[in-house]
Amino acid sequence: MEVNKVAVLGAGTMGMGIAWAVAGAGKKVVLYDIKQEIVDKTLERIGKGLARAEEKGQAPAGAKDFVTGNITGTSTLQDIADVDFVIETVVENMEIKKIVYGELSSILKPEIIVATNTSSLSITEIAAAYARPDKVVGMHFFNPAMVMALIEVIPALQTSDETTEAVMELSKAIGKKPIKVKEGPGFVVNRILIPGMNEAAFIAMEGLASYEDIDKAMKLGAGWPMGPFTLCDMVGIDIGLEVCNVLYRETGDPKYRPAGLLKQMVRAGWLGRKTGKGFYDYSK
Ligand code: 3HC
Repeated sequence: MEVNKVAVLGAGTMGMGIAWAVAGAGKKVVLYDIKQEIVDKTLERIGKGLARAEEKGQAPAGAKDFVTGNITGTSTLQDIADVDFVIETVVENMEIKKIVYGELSSILKPEIIVATNTSSLSITEIAAAYARPDKVVGMHFFNPAMVMALIEVIPALQTSDETTEAVMELSKAIGKKPIKVKEGPGFVVNRILIPGMNEAAFIAMEGLASYEDIDKAMKLGAGWPMGPFTLCDMVGIDIGLEVCNVLYRETGDPKYRPAGLLKQMVRAGWLGRKTGKGFYDYSK
């Protein structure tokens, strides 16, 4: 399967990182979201992020022009009709995803694979909403997607082996390291990482240590690159809570019950970096 042009659906945090990663590997990317202003804002963030990365020596000189030159934005779904591959990072809401997959069923060529980046919804249920469910597969990136090497490739019940293998190959072609995982709540990484964040919130609720000291503890005592609260703010506290809820709901195991503190933060609208406030303040 030759992939030269990829559609990334959804221009949120993950869509941004994925578009950046795929364009950085030399593929043409069409970044779609329902509102043009969301797409434009994300394209601007990619440009600024790359300029900073170039300055810091984290990206080679010329990376900004190369990557941004490979991405076009659109708010018209029909514009992705000629792509070779689709990565879907639409909001984590099954009803909305089903509508999108219904529309994609008539827009895309029959041979096109649609990979969903969902971290919490059933890929089997998503596949059932698409006209060709054997072409749907999970392709789970990690935040920040332009940096993190891992991709979890998760076949749904309906996914064909050819589809799974094609996604493994594409993952390698964009410089990532894929692993194959069977469908199960949280897959591998989130099943381990999100309960860790949740436990950090319980520890804070019990007043055992401050956010800063819990972060320091995991960085200096366990070698984590960032502490659980910094990480939760980066991933989005709403996303962390949603994954907790899915682990709890799908398994029925009380060990996954979300900490009240996570629920409170979400109810307050303090979702982390993206809202300027989470466990820490990013307003300045
Ligand atoms: N290219 C471009 N940008 C880069 C970069 C690179 N190679 N390396 C870092 N950056 C960017 C960062 O995104 C960040 O951007 P900002 O300026 O807009 O804030 C900035 O440079 C920070 O970089 P630093 O130099 O301060 O930090 P480091 O280079 O030390 O590392 C990190 C940053 C890679 C995020 C590291 O701290 C890390 O690995 N953290 C853990 C991340 C993690 O666990 N991710 C998984 C989350 S779970 C998930 O995503 C699943 C989902 O389903 C919930």
